[in-house]
Order: sequence, then structure tokens, then C-alpha cells
Amino acid sequence: PVGAPEGVEAKKITKVGVLGAGLMASQFALLFARRLGVPVVITDVSQERVDAGVARIGDSVDEMLAKGRVSPDDANRIKALVSGSVSYDAFADADWVIEAVFEEMSVKQDVLRKIEQVIAPDAILATNTSSLSVAEMGSVLTEPARLVGFHFFNPVAVMPLVEVVRAEHTSDEAVATALAVAKTLKKTAIVTADQPGFVVNRVLARVLGEAMRGVEEGTPFEVVAQGAAPLGLPMSPFELLELVGLPVGAHVLDSHHAAWPERFYPGDGLKRIAEHGTILTRDKKGNATGYDPAAVK
Ligand code: CAA
Repeated sequence: PVGAPEGVEAKKITKVGVLGAGLMASQFALLFARRLGVPVVITDVSQERVDAGVARIGDSVDEMLAKGRVSPDDANRIKALVSGSVSYDAFADADWVIEAVFEEMSVKQDVLRKIEQVIAPDAILATNTSSLSVAEMGSVLTEPARLVGFHFFNPVAVMPLVEVVRAEHTSDEAVATALAVAKTLKKTAIVTADQPGFVVNRVLARVLGEAMRGVEEGTPFEVVAQGAAPLGLPMSPFELLELVGLPVGAHVLDSHHAAWPERFYPGDGLKRIAEHGTILTRDKKGNATGYDPAAVK
């Protein structure tokens, strides 16, 4: 059943592991260190990527300090809690491990299967997948009950919601722990069923797909953006696609199209735009100045 399990105690988290050191992974590693106040270790496929992830987290903490969002003591505390390692051995004593690797089933299954061999039997595994089946992902694990979906949104520091995905096999303890973690991170959590796109991306994929179709059928980007404005979205559908990343956006749209071909836009047009590079034109500081009509040619 979808929903919060009643009367089940959450597991106490004393160390967090993050599989992946990319942009999103670094953002939530920082959040875990800041809000849970426990050691956080990140990993990736090369020392360079791990170092870049740790450096990115340090830069973000410096930025928060400069803006007065954290005290100098807190900034030092957060930095001291974060470390990086290319070896999974550093994850052996983590009780909450979340993956944020490439959004492809075989890649995610591979890292989860490997990490399960080094972590404690009762450690919980979480996946930040945005649309893949959590049940299928967990099917390669010895203990699929420990896998729960924990889906953040961009920008991680700002977006208030987390989707906690309960697959058929997910244990009550994993869901209760995910909800407790979300609360400590000061995020609002919803418990969703394990279906493509969960809740948020299913809704978003329709909006973004129809915006793309509008453009492909001849309406200029800025007109579609103006037309979408009354929906009250904080950014236009195209700005949002750039925020998420065009290749990631295309991937998300594709996975919805694969699940429901007649209902969702396929990511092909967006993939071509991703190859072109951009939808928005920008000034030297990176501020958006308009739309690039060549993007749909
Ligand atoms: N990191 C940290 N903080 C950030 C940030 C970032 N990347 N971007 C903005 N902020 C902070 C700003 O510092 C500012 O904080 P203060 O008010 O404390 O100064 C606050 O957010 C507001 O930012 P701005 O004033 O610069 O800009 P804004 O009011 O236009 O808000 C926005 C920016 C929060 C990104 C807003 O435009 C927004 O909510 N956009 C929609 C985002 C969205 O829908 N995300 C979901 C994407 S889908 C997804 O992620 C799912 C997936 O699986 C692919």
C-alpha cells in the first residue's frame, strides 16, 4: 500500500554514503551533512570526479557562508563531515546509501549490487531515480526490501519536495526511515507508487512535452512560454528543461513515452536540441536573454 507505515520505527542514521559525485549528488551530499550532521562519503568512477565533487561541495558551502546562510562554524563543520573515496570500502559503516548515478537501469543495478556486498545487512539503500522502476532496480539485490526511492528535484537546496517511492518489495522500515530522513532534511515527503515518473515527472512530462510539440508544430518558443505563463510556473517550460539539463529532460520524456506511447511526447526533438546545445540565448554572465529559433531547425 502507498502511504506512511504506521507504528514502524525509522532507523537511526549515523553515516551517509552517496554513489555519484555529479551536480545533483554533490548538492544532496551537502544537504545530508548540513541537516543530518553525520559523516557523508561520496564516490564516483574516478578520483578526478570524486575530487571535483568534494571541491564543488566546498565551493557551495563557501557561497552559503558568503551569503550569511551558515555560520563560519557550521561551514567548517559541514566541510569536515564530507569526504570522497573511489573505494566502496569507505561505505562499509554507512547505514543510509543513496545512488545518483547515470539514469540507466543496468548502471544503477550494477552499483547497487556491488555496494550491497560491502554494507551492513540492515543498511538502507535509496535511489534518486526520476522515472525508473524501483522494483526492477531492486530485483538484483539479495535484500530488495531495503531499497526505497528517494527522489529530489532541481535545485536540491531550494525545492521543498522529495518523492519517497515504495516498490512492492520495499520494507516498512525503509519507508519510515526515508520519511524521517526527509523530515530532518526539512523537505516535505510524499509516498508514491512505483510507476514511471512517480507523481511529479508524470505531470511535468505532459507540460514539457506539449510545450515542445507546440514549438515543433510552428509556434515560436517565446509564444509558447507566454502562453504557459498563466499556469504560474516559476520558469517557462524551456527554462525548466535547461535547468534539468536537455539530455536528462529528453531521457525523462523518453521513459514516459516508452511506458505510455500514445500519451507522452518522445524525447527525439529534444535530443536534437540537446545536440544543438541550447534553447535559451544568454549574455556573458549566463543570464537568459531570449530563445534561439535555430534550436528547432
Ligand atoms: N542552488 C541553491 N540555491 C538556489 C539555486 C541553486 N541552484 N537557485 C536558486 N537558489 C536560491 C536563491 O539563492 C534564492 O535564495 P534566497 O531567496 O534565500 O536568496 C532563491 O533560491 C530564489 O532564487 P532566485 O531569486 O535567484 O530566483 P527565482 O526566484 O527565480 O527562483 C528557482 C529560482 C528556485 C530555480 C525557481 O525558478 C523555481 O522554482 N524553478 C522551478 C524549478 C523546478 O520546477 N524544479 C523541478 C525540476 S524537475 C526535476 O528536477 C525532476 C527530475 O527528476 C529531472
